Amino acid sequence: EKHSFKHFMLKEIHEQPGVVRDCLQAYINSNWDLEFEAKTTDELHPATVDINQSPIELGLPDELLENLEQVQIIACGTSWHASLVGKYLLEQLADLPTTVEYASEARYAPSPLRPHTLIIGVTQSGETADTLAALSMEKQRRLNAPTQFKPRLLGITNRTESSLGQLVPHLINTRAGIEIGVAATKTFTAQVIAFYLLAIDLAWRRQTLSQSRVQELVKGLRKLPSQIELILNTQEAKIEDFSHQFSDTKDFIFLGRGINFPIALEGALKLKEISYIHAEGYPAGEMKHGPIALLDKDVPVVAIAMPGSVYEKVISNAQEAKARDAHLIGVTAKETLEESDVFNNILPVPLVDELLSPILAVIPLQLLAYYIAARRGLDVDQPRNLAKSVTVE
Ligand code: M6R
Repeated sequence: EKHSFKHFMLKEIHEQPGVVRDCLQAYINSNWDLEFEAKTTDELHPATVDINQSPIELGLPDELLENLEQVQIIACGTSWHASLVGKYLLEQLADLPTTVEYASEARYAPSPLRPHTLIIGVTQSGETADTLAALSMEKQRRLNAPTQFKPRLLGITNRTESSLGQLVPHLINTRAGIEIGVAATKTFTAQVIAFYLLAIDLAWRRQTLSQSRVQELVKGLRKLPSQIELILNTQEAKIEDFSHQFSDTKDFIFLGRGINFPIALEGALKLKEISYIHAEGYPAGEMKHGPIALLDKDVPVVAIAMPGSVYEKVISNAQEAKARDAHLIGVTAKETLEESDVFNNILPVPLVDELLSPILAVIPLQLLAYYIAARRGLDVDQPRNLAKSVTVE
């Protein structure tokens, strides 16, 4: 049921605060951060949770996660984008070298076998043919290998009863509820949340983060649902209005760096799949190596400029685009508006820890893609040439 929403995609965009809330509730030990804050256990109020345990409870066995040397992730499309955010988190938080492969490529060019590797298949439907085939190949070629190469397989999916569930012994259920719109929105957000939880759990096990940094991240995660709500409540009507000017636009460029580079890719994919406008996502620093030649006044550029380690870099890349007359749209935090008078338009999101910012930055991009496509009168939920799950090679 779409209820009052015109399309399932819009309904699913609006479901995201609830999805994030449910996921966090399911996998974060409820009183951990409160106990951590209190730190003492008095007789009258004995602690209900052990703060020396990881706050994350994904129900994964120790044998799967101990003594890891690297992570190999296999996925397609939007799930591949979520996996790129995952790589950033696993490397920066848990100090685990991580590769992210397109399943359709990995199948025909298997990477050299490496020991103590966690292989993660990410597929919301659990039915994507290429992802299943690449995972099954990884499983097969490790079965008869020496112990250190034995398969350690994990799936991240929204459908635990899917074929993925038959193939891999362990799953993280993203619990987003069924997604009908062909364009993935809430399942993307839920996959990214799954990666936060996995990366924090691994960081805890490997002792690569201080307890207080873990606490900071857990607290930050818990604030995300209301921050997404704030964006939806305050920005949706503005983005709807604003998107009208792009009805005849032919090309869009999305720029991001660091943990928000995958969000640039995701913003571009959302726009092209439902509005049929040509869109490309680039790491902002790569523009000068070729793509900047595309820019002129008819090519809007969306720059994701979230305060943090690469903020000034993105702003300066955005300025380079502006110097080529591009219409510049910034996805940035309100608190930095004055500094960023470089943008023609701003899609504001709340200021958060840079590591958590992808979850907020993607929301205005989903709305932008949705309203541009809806304005063009297109079939947003069933775009041409696309299927919800790609069960053929
Ligand atoms: O079910 P999966 O997560 O394996 O699907 C992978 C892609 O087909 C999917 O993400 C596709 O790119 C979406 N239509 C993007 O919105």
